[in-house]
Amino acid sequence: MRNVDVLLHRDFEIGVTDKRLFGAFIEHLGRCVYNGIYEPGHKTADKQGFRQDVMALVRELAPTIMRYPGGNFVSGYNWEDGVGPVKDRPRRLDLAWMSTEPNSFGTNEFIDWCRMADIEPMLAVNLGTRAGDAARNMVEYCNHPSGTTLSDLRRKHGWDKPHDVKFWCLGNEMDGPWQMEAKTATEYGRIAVEAAKMMPWIDPSIELAACGSSGRSMPTYGAWEQTVLEHTFDHVEFISLHTYINNYAGDTPAFLAACDLMDSFIDEVVAIADAVAARRRSSKRIMLSFDEWNVWYRTRRNRQERVLPGWPVAPPILEEIYNMEDALAFGGACISLLNHADRVKAGCLAQLVNVIAPIMTETGGPAWRQTIFHPFAHFSNFGRGRVLRTQIDSPTYAANYYDPRGPQELYFPVPAAPNLKLSAVHDDKAGMLTLFALNRSLTEEMPLRVAAKGFGNLRVEKALQLHHADLKAINSKAAPDKVAPTALSAVRIDGEHVHATLKPASWNVIRVNVAK
Ligand code: AHR
Repeated sequence: MRNVDVLLHRDFEIGVTDKRLFGAFIEHLGRCVYNGIYEPGHKTADKQGFRQDVMALVRELAPTIMRYPGGNFVSGYNWEDGVGPVKDRPRRLDLAWMSTEPNSFGTNEFIDWCRMADIEPMLAVNLGTRAGDAARNMVEYCNHPSGTTLSDLRRKHGWDKPHDVKFWCLGNEMDGPWQMEAKTATEYGRIAVEAAKMMPWIDPSIELAACGSSGRSMPTYGAWEQTVLEHTFDHVEFISLHTYINNYAGDTPAFLAACDLMDSFIDEVVAIADAVAARRRSSKRIMLSFDEWNVWYRTRRNRQERVLPGWPVAPPILEEIYNMEDALAFGGACISLLNHADRVKAGCLAQLVNVIAPIMTETGGPAWRQTIFHPFAHFSNFGRGRVLRTQIDSPTYAANYYDPRGPQELYFPVPAAPNLKLSAVHDDKAGMLTLFALNRSLTEEMPLRVAAKGFGNLRVEKALQLHHADLKAINSKAAPDKVAPTALSAVRIDGEHVHATLKPASWNVIRVNVAK
């Protein structure tokens, strides 16, 4: 491949990454909670049943905010079922995942788990089978200090101090027919705005995210965002976006181009939100919460397939095993999120453990890292700072990405996907410039030359690559490190240029010390 050139300057930035961009998601689904983060009796479990081997991997992964308790699950959830003495909590049928929910883990346990992991909690309220009244009561239970029935109930349950949860999602994917009590945009907009009025009347410090479309290929996409924001604009800070990248078509170049469509998705939602603002002559800017994103297709199920005999507790569903090419597509999504740091102010990898997850556990056994663990850990640990504008001169390829979400089967053309997908993040405090670089060519090495202007002296601190000759290579309990980062050698500095050679189909992280 010919030289691929990147030009950036210290002073030209897209935006600063918000701490909340690096979040993840725990849903009551399959073995995410039960036998995932929580497994009383496991040899590493503490007295609350929190697996400490999982906790150690979570710390390494470094998510910053955690969405809970759903997902589809939340649209039928009574938050009251998950608080109070465990022996008194009801067992319920969960119609989202056709399982039995024992409720032995609930909001208070989740908050304790977050505090232990040093992660900010993000709670979703049920706007499917319930509405504003349940939502305001949940805020009062969680955040009101004391002196009312609900706040004193929390104290009686053993949590004296308010949980002080700042980030609240107004339901989940309410546009999706698979959702319990799905709604039209107008129906949802009305319910959401009433909840969004009452919740901050209890605690004015909270921030709210309205549901956007559950995917860019939904038939109501665009119109949904517009109508929902027309109702909620004055009462919310965020609109949500969800994307699950797939390779159903077995077309790896198109799979790796899907993150370019994520870029379009973000740009379009920004445009719609700003159009709603413009009609009001408002300078308020609605920020984006990309609160579900990942690669997911092998274990997707329709409602019929979800019917499991006997309504099991924590069945092993959606346990997607990720391969090398999934990690590449996933890395591309990380780059898309970074490159929209000006407007995407929250993000959640869906999900954290066992369910379409970077961390897998054996019930009663060990925990291990999936291939996608690695790009996320790089993204979160090294992606904090000022994202710089980049000019990229790279060969491109044409792709046609297939996305069957929604009732229609759709192809989305990407006429010119650059072989190089890149983001550059400057952490001024640490004196570090980090380049996240994905070589999307499956066959050719990429000679990369980055002109990093305005920094002065450059010194390579560390360079890593994720590459495997077999794009279908996976990690497993038996071989947990088959796909793992290795050193990227021969990165060199020549004046203000960083030079590297990127393997075909590789994810690369180059850390350049730019401290004066
Ligand atoms: O993350 C799995 C599911 O995907 C979530 O429950 C839902 O919100 C989405 O459709």
